[in-house]
Amino acid sequence: MKGNKAEGRSARAIGPGTHAVVTGGSSGIGLATARLLAARGARVSLIARTASRLEAAAAQLAGGGAHVATAVADVTDRAAVEKAIAELTARQGPCDILVTSAGITEAGYFQDLHDSAFREVMETDYFGTLWPVRAVVPSMIERRRGTVIGVSAVVGIAGTFGYTAVSPAKFAVRGLLEALRAELNPYDVHVGYICPPDVDTPHYAYERPRLPVETKEFSKAMKLMPPEQVAAGIIRLIERRRTRMVPGTVNRVGSAVSVMLPGALEWFVDRTVRKVRRDRPAGHTAAGDVRTP
Ligand SMILES: NC(=O)c1ccc[n+]([C@@H]2O[C@H](COP(=O)([O-])OP(=O)(O)OC[C@H]3O[C@@H](n4cnc5c(N)ncnc54)[C@H](OP(=O)(O)O)[C@@H]3O)[C@@H](O)[C@H]2O)c1
Repeated sequence: MKGNKAEGRSARAIGPGTHAVVTGGSSGIGLATARLLAARGARVSLIARTASRLEAAAAQLAGGGAHVATAVADVTDRAAVEKAIAELTARQGPCDILVTSAGITEAGYFQDLHDSAFREVMETDYFGTLWPVRAVVPSMIERRRGTVIGVSAVVGIAGTFGYTAVSPAKFAVRGLLEALRAELNPYDVHVGYICPPDVDTPHYAYERPRLPVETKEFSKAMKLMPPEQVAAGIIRLIERRRTRMVPGTVNRVGSAVSVMLPGALEWFVDRTVRKVRRDRPAGHTAAGDVRTP
């Protein structure tokens, strides 16, 4: 009986007739997710700021036979998000699946980051998740149907060297969605999130030269992941109605240790930082550039 219920939910999770809205759908993880959703027959709607990139992404998906719509909106702007989602649902039907992948990064030593970096990352990654979720949840509750998936990060599980602007925003995304999951479960609305490691996208290409050498040393153990692997994880979350996923075995084990044995993680981090600084003076980025004071 239980199995039948789970199967029934899974069967209706993604398919022809499903409308999936993907913020940040013009690039990286969002675009790879939109592609997989479309491959399962879903109608997909993409939201991002740059019209030309949205058009290119939509053309790519439509070329594969997908029903695609786009809306230009900045996810930090609540009114713009409401308007975009209203337009998209008028064209493609009520939103059954929301994936909030829009996000930015500002990595670096705490003392080098501008005040604006902390605010911009929080505005985009956290509020840029909150506003689309606020826009779709009332209809999902009313219809007693739907899935919301957010994109946090492994740095949203353990506060990470070099990510003093990003870790708090990704913790906030996780906190929002865990709390919301509990509230929406009685309405049969599914809420989950994924915590990717470093992923091979323009986001990472921007971040990489800004990473402190210490951060680079930690990330040596993690393989750069293709966005398609994260997208496949998002699809599994949706189809299996799971709450969380850390893609990649090494990342999953590392994240579990950081939660269960935070002291062990701190010991490892401090030891690595000491070692890196013995070999190389502090104040170098991963690219080897000396920081300007
Ligand atoms: N790549 C990684 O290493 C990594 C690791 C962990 C987590 N993540 C998270 O994964 C998510 C997707 O990142 P990605 O790697 O796929 O990056 P990406 O390839 O750079 O894509 C980011 C997308 O978000 C859109 N976007 C950015 N700011 C926006 C805003 N204010 N309003 C609307 N759209 C906005 C971008 O389009 P426009 O610029 O045109 O708006 C683009 O479509 C982000 O939340 C990121 O934090 C990434």
